[in-house]
Parts: sequence; C-alpha cells; structure tokens
Amino acid sequence: MIERSFVMMKPDAVSRRLMGQILSRFEDKGLKIVAMKLRQIDEDLAKEHHGEHKEKPFFGGLVEYITSSPALTMVIEGDDAISVIRKMVGATNPKEADIGTIRGDFGMDTGRNIIHASDAPESAAREIALFFDEEEICDYSMSDNAWIY
Ligand code: TYD
Ligand code: MG
Repeated sequence: MIERSFVMMKPDAVSRRLMGQILSRFEDKGLKIVAMKLRQIDEDLAKEHHGEHKEKPFFGGLVEYITSSPALTMVIEGDDAISVIRKMVGATNPKEADIGTIRGDFGMDTGRNIIHASDAPESAAREIALFFDEEEICDYSMSDNAWIY
C-alpha cells in the first residue's frame, strides 16, 4: 500500500553536512520525496511533536537538541514507506543500530541520533499535519516507477 511518512533530519545531520548523503539513500531506494523544508523548529512545535515522551527524563534534552539549529523536514512516499524507512533509519541507539542503517552508519549517541521517522500510520498522519499544509505536499509522477514496482 502506498504510504506517506514524516521524516526529519535532525540538527546534527544538517550541521554535519550529511543531508545529501542521507537524501540519496531514500532516492536510491526508490522512495519519492513529496515535501521538503529546512526550518528552525521552535520549542512549542518540538514539544508537541515529541509529546508521547513528555514524562521521560530525556524530554528536556530532546527538545533542546531538536530546537538547537535548523532541521530538514520531509514527507516521503512509497509502498509500505513507513516500515521501509524505519528499517533504513535503524535502532534508536546508534551504537546498537545495524551497520548499513542511517543511525548505524552516521551516529554514536541516542541524544544525537541524526534522523526521525514516523513509526505507524497514525503517527505519520499526525506528524505530517503538524509540519506541513496539505498544499505543500506535491502530487507528481516518477518516470521510472514501472522499473521500481
Ligand atoms: P523514541 O520514539 O523512543 O525513538 P525513535 O526516534 O527511534 O522512534 O524516542 C524519540 C527520540 O528521543 C529518540 O530518537 C532520541 C530521544 N531519546 C533519548 O534522547 N534518550 C532515550 O533514552 C530515548 C529512548 C530516546
Ligand atoms: Mg519514536
């Protein structure tokens, strides 16, 4: 089933100049970027986005990290995109993430784990609506789709 996922390269990925390499992985896989915005995330938005963790001890540090400098927010589309992208992202702790995953290849610390990706259809819908207006999401066809699917 064609799904949309909300994906965000966190401030460390932007500041470490990893955006191009990470974006290439999604393009190489055959996924489709349908929205993308580099933006400074403010405290209210960071808290709402990570609301499920508001009681956790790491919440304050997480909000500080996410708001520390610009992040690259995206909507990525494809067949089973949510689970495919989570697999490409790897485990939450980059030290435990498999080599070959984004976190496994680029990160060392859970508090600087490079990238966020939606974990389920419900969270994807919520996160996409939080970061993008519907008219900012592009509807277009890819000429090579017949070779990917
Ligand atoms: P979580 O939703 O558990 O992980 P994931 O990003 O893999 O879905 O946690 C959200 C973010 O919170 C995680 O990417 C990094 C941060 N975090 C910490 O800083 N310390 C922790 O112990 C955990 C579990 C998460
Ligand atoms: Mg999560």
